[in-house]
Amino acid sequence: MSELLQLKDEASKELSNAEDLRALDDIRVKYLGKKGLITSQMSKIGSLPPEEKKEFGQLVNSVKQDVEAAIESKKAELEIAEINQRLKTETLDVTLPIRPQAKGSIHPISKVMDEISAILSGLRFEQHDGPNIEDDYHNFDALNIPENHPARQMHDTFYMPEQDGKKRVLRTHTSPVQIRAMQGKTPPFRIFSMGRTYRSDSDQTHTPMFHQVEALFVDKNVNFGHLKWTVNEFVKQFFEEEKEMRFRPSYFPFTEPSAEVDIGWKDGKWLEIMGCGMVNPKVLENVGVDPNEYSGFAFGAGIERMAMLKYNIPDLRQFFESDMRWLQHYGF
Ligand code: PHE
Repeated sequence: MSELLQLKDEASKELSNAEDLRALDDIRVKYLGKKGLITSQMSKIGSLPPEEKKEFGQLVNSVKQDVEAAIESKKAELEIAEINQRLKTETLDVTLPIRPQAKGSIHPISKVMDEISAILSGLRFEQHDGPNIEDDYHNFDALNIPENHPARQMHDTFYMPEQDGKKRVLRTHTSPVQIRAMQGKTPPFRIFSMGRTYRSDSDQTHTPMFHQVEALFVDKNVNFGHLKWTVNEFVKQFFEEEKEMRFRPSYFPFTEPSAEVDIGWKDGKWLEIMGCGMVNPKVLENVGVDPNEYSGFAFGAGIERMAMLKYNIPDLRQFFESDMRWLQHYGF
């Protein structure tokens, strides 16, 4: 027991001499660490005769608590001293110029998506989202894409492991969101969806991940004229000028009739910018909408392509290389 009291004295002497937080921590380890002097006294308790256990135990605990408390108060004292020292010696020159900082910028894809979102919202379309990992019902079947359609082949579509007996794919277009938005609801529908899409395709003009936007309008008496007006308005607002347009007959399983839209570009050249058509009655049936009562149109475009055209970006692949120099140049 006298050894204990001596330890306490030594500890408090050392504490009063401690000059900084590091020295303080050394003292803590020396006395209270795993193999510390006081800690090892505590492990003695077990080997003492029962009549001594209580008294020794109480003393060792109170010594331990006293030393702990002394360390805490010394710590507070040293911390304040340290702050005061810094206040005395450090100066702050508020007239120094700021350090140059690497500035981030908005990626052209994000910029174009914001623009499109503003345009379609302005035309009273409502944004809807869906999962990037889709089941093949929403991505294909419900959109009237038959089992043997080439788009469903392994070399075109990224298949995921099945879940609950469902085939799953990385969505190959934003059209499954149409299905999700319509299922179990009654028209009118005025929706758009936008986001990542995936195809097993990689060359100069294709990246395996890319972005699409598409709009859908379903109501009574919707006709091809409504489609043309809306597409024209959308294109005009996006490019901030009137563009010549032409509709070329095309084919999509989910629209009938279908068309590609070309816009007049420079030097008499036409550029294809989107696909569109009247919603196939079979698609309406698949989501429980009566095609005798309702009709609709849809159009869909690639975001990268729209960004490249509007902002003169020549190479598709650089969009996703995360090269800061590219982003400094083409970002916003
Ligand atoms: N989903 C079509 C595609 O990915 C685009 C499209 C959308 C076509 C809507 C017509 C209507 O190619």
